[in-house]
Amino acid sequence: AALLGLWAIVAYLLGSVPFGLILTRAMGLGNLRSIGSGNIGATNVLRTGNKTAAALTLLLDGVKGAIAVLLARASTGEDAAQVAALFAMIGHCYPVWLRFAGGKGVATFLGVMLALAWPVGLGCCIAWVLGALAFRISSMGALVGAAASTFLIILLGYGTMLLLGITLTLLVFWRHRGNIARIKAGTEPRIGEKRDAPS
Ligand code: G3P
Repeated sequence: AALLGLWAIVAYLLGSVPFGLILTRAMGLGNLRSIGSGNIGATNVLRTGNKTAAALTLLLDGVKGAIAVLLARASTGEDAAQVAALFAMIGHCYPVWLRFAGGKGVATFLGVMLALAWPVGLGCCIAWVLGALAFRISSMGALVGAAASTFLIILLGYGTMLLLGITLTLLVFWRHRGNIARIKAGTEPRIGEKRDAPS
């Protein structure tokens, strides 16, 4: 139990590193908080116009989650890996450094899923891309990708991570509640649109 607690803390700290903010500041791309949705994720970094920064944000926000899971699994086992996945997501969405105002968890979700069960993670990535392409809306891709995890977990036989998968999916949906309201209202910006869309 002590080891699980330790992994919760390590994973939280890893997850709480806001790569979108760090990269946009380091690259002089302006204040991410006053651009687009104000979110710290790759989608909003893309609204600075810098595709490299956006791709790096997506990659690093994913890798931090994957690393937390893989380290926990290698040192302690599967339970620790699941705890690490949960806390990496909490760290990204609610980082103490940003007064708990963090991101929406999409890249980190994909990263932890790939590390927990790569076929599930891969399926989520595919669903995310297809969802985003089909609707031309980034948040729609995120919601489709996250929701797909439940079906993939059952279909591919990873029942031991079903509860975790559902919990993380609900967290992603909760963090997208503003996006969901805009999708319903028909005001969510499409990919490539410069229009502002407050978080
Ligand atoms: O990953 C976040 C994305 O799904 C939505 O981002 O900035 O459009 O709210 P944003």
